[in-house]
Amino acid sequence: MGCPAKKVCNRLCGSALLQDEPLVGRILESVVSAVQATGRGVPVTLKTRTGWDREHRNGVRVAQIAEASGIAALAIHGRTRADFYEGDAEYDTIRAIRETVRIPVLANGDITSPDKARVVLQYTGTAGVMVGRASHGTPWIFRDINGLLTQGVLPEPLSRAERRDIVLAHLQAIYAFHGEESGLRIARKHLGWYAKLLESAPDARARLMAEVSTSSQFACANELFGAWAQVH
Ligand SMILES: Cc1cc2nc3c(=O)[nH]c(=O)nc-3n(C[C@H](O)[C@H](O)[C@H](O)COP(=O)(O)O)c2cc1C
Repeated sequence: MGCPAKKVCNRLCGSALLQDEPLVGRILESVVSAVQATGRGVPVTLKTRTGWDREHRNGVRVAQIAEASGIAALAIHGRTRADFYEGDAEYDTIRAIRETVRIPVLANGDITSPDKARVVLQYTGTAGVMVGRASHGTPWIFRDINGLLTQGVLPEPLSRAERRDIVLAHLQAIYAFHGEESGLRIARKHLGWYAKLLESAPDARARLMAEVSTSSQFACANELFGAWAQVH
């Protein structure tokens, strides 16, 4: 219930639902009871924004409806739908939601570093944070955040060889999960982000994008990140 896209909101889906609280309640109750009926004990969680626009920040009421409907945990993106991805995420509404409901709340939006995660957790008192864009091309941010939160200091940065291994294992996991055609395309997106590491090889991104099979794409990544990892 957080998607701001016009094609979604025009059909009263995504974050457009924030304008119709009774409908939110009915949908959430239906989903929770359908999932409960499976008897598998799967928790239903909700991700949403703080409201439709800054004049209608009804995130607290929507969170109460969610809790009353049996939602097990909430993730809140600290922007309204009208904000799209503009401006800075705000954490006051997330804090107010955390103070109102008893289910776990995760703070989301602009968590760009381990220190920001620490500050936002402290400010909102939420059970956790959720990281989106800052993990693009840098999935080790989760390890760094966990390290700071559990040890009180940032862990030693990963070596280039360790980061190369993560990139290559990520590619293999994408191919295994998505198959040849989708795997190639989805891996391109991630390689676009990972290529920022290869600043010393200006043609690296173009080479990676030009590959037309998963095997040649992997070979190219292996060569480029392998050479990168040799430099300390
Ligand atoms: C390209 C893009 C696609 C997204 N797709 C989804 C999605 O499918 N489901 C979802 O819950 N959030 C989606 N989001 C929102 C993110 O999960 C997140 O709430 C938002 O980016 C703010 O967090 P961040 O600042 O850490 O990125 C998407 C965001 C972007 C930029």
